[in-house]
Amino acid sequence: MLRPQDSEQLRQWDIAHVWHPFTQMADYAQNEPLIIERAEGCWLVDVHGRRYLDGVGSIWCNVFGHRRPEIDQAIKEQLQRVAHSTLLGISHVPAIRLARKLVELTAPLGQWGEPLTHVFFSDDGATAVEVAIKMAFQYWQQRPAEQGGPCPRKTKFVCFGGAYHGDTLGDVSVGGVDLFHRMFEPLLFPTYRAPQPYCYRCPLGLQRESCVVDCAAACEAILARHHEEIAAVVIEPLVQGAAGMIVAPAGFLRRIREATRCYQVLLIADEVAVGMGRTGTMFACEQEQVAPDFLCLAKGLTGGYLPLAATLTTERIYRAFLGSIAERRTFFHGHTYGGNPLGCAAALATLELFEREHILERLPERISQLAQWCELFRQLPHVGDVRQKGLLAGIELVRDKQSREPYPYEAQIGHAVCRKARERQVLIRPLGNVLVLFPPLVISPEELDWLCDTLLWAIRQVTET
Ligand SMILES: Cc1ncc(COP(=O)(O)O)c(C=O)c1O
Repeated sequence: MLRPQDSEQLRQWDIAHVWHPFTQMADYAQNEPLIIERAEGCWLVDVHGRRYLDGVGSIWCNVFGHRRPEIDQAIKEQLQRVAHSTLLGISHVPAIRLARKLVELTAPLGQWGEPLTHVFFSDDGATAVEVAIKMAFQYWQQRPAEQGGPCPRKTKFVCFGGAYHGDTLGDVSVGGVDLFHRMFEPLLFPTYRAPQPYCYRCPLGLQRESCVVDCAAACEAILARHHEEIAAVVIEPLVQGAAGMIVAPAGFLRRIREATRCYQVLLIADEVAVGMGRTGTMFACEQEQVAPDFLCLAKGLTGGYLPLAATLTTERIYRAFLGSIAERRTFFHGHTYGGNPLGCAAALATLELFEREHILERLPERISQLAQWCELFRQLPHVGDVRQKGLLAGIELVRDKQSREPYPYEAQIGHAVCRKARERQVLIRPLGNVLVLFPPLVISPEELDWLCDTLLWAIRQVTET
């Protein structure tokens, strides 16, 4: 805890100098800021010593809570060797170990297609996907003769309405969140946009009970018609995160994979949010027996400690980039801190904890506890839809449950509920009218009850009084 005058100084400097992401700063400056000073387990502690349960997993990345001794120790040990050294043309020990580990870990996906055997490290979710997009593009330009030769027309991407893959311009091009992306439209490359699998507000106007997952059919139709110019489909497997935790109907991902295979189109699986156990299995793709051509990981890869990302791909893709220097088949892409050794050490410790503590085996209990709470959320008069997959949930608030009329954007209802929850020491962050639960995977039963009970109370306080 800081002295009151020091916290006040920080508050002033924060408002004067820090430009917060995805934050309207005029509004931010009006409210009492929350300034975190330290953390313990699933709790964050602010400069006044107040504790908050981290219900948003520090933006969907924290897996084991904060200050896990094993991860702390791994980083300290790595610090005593080297904090940073590049992967451009040379290598380092933790990157090699981690690449090997990731290839082993994803090996089960290989039973449904080609195994992922090569790992390209970068530093954030956005870069993991950007790398996959560029690799897929370049692959078709220089596909080797033994694989059928180049297909220079294959330059386009298929993406989904509501998609979010990060904030670089490549990722924004394949994104579909109007609020975030429309402004940048003149800067983006054109894509084919398939409808998002959003059953509560079906973009095709259908009902889930009677549809035949027509949104997947719409994507299949795009592929059937345009496959000769399509390099890849980019998808968030099972759940579209930033769209509002939109859980796709069962079989959707599988159908997209089958269609891409049928039409010789690559599949980029963005598991930045849903990977690392979040949906109940290590990778979301496992649940629909899907082997993608690219698997993008970040966020929870380091347990939520450090920026590190990985783009995994197959032997076939990798081979297309091999050749003599003169052939210029090299993948000319890299980031200064890509594959940072401290991040790799944290990731190795994270993966070890997954195994040692049998995290995935222990998850079903927490998942069904969350499911019971979801039933209670569903009964609230201003909750229109509750979507849960594994240990994540999205609770969509509506002004009118019958007509599904949403609250207007200006009402900032999600933020109002989150501010209310803070009064009872719970920290969550909404996506528009959707309240998101994304706690550390190791949250205790008592903490999960506290998190959900507080959210339930906050929703009632804001929407019913
Ligand atoms: C599915 C998905 N992909 C990519 C990203 C971008 O990750 P980062 O914020 O680490 O750049 C996010 C971030 O929320 C995400 O949810």
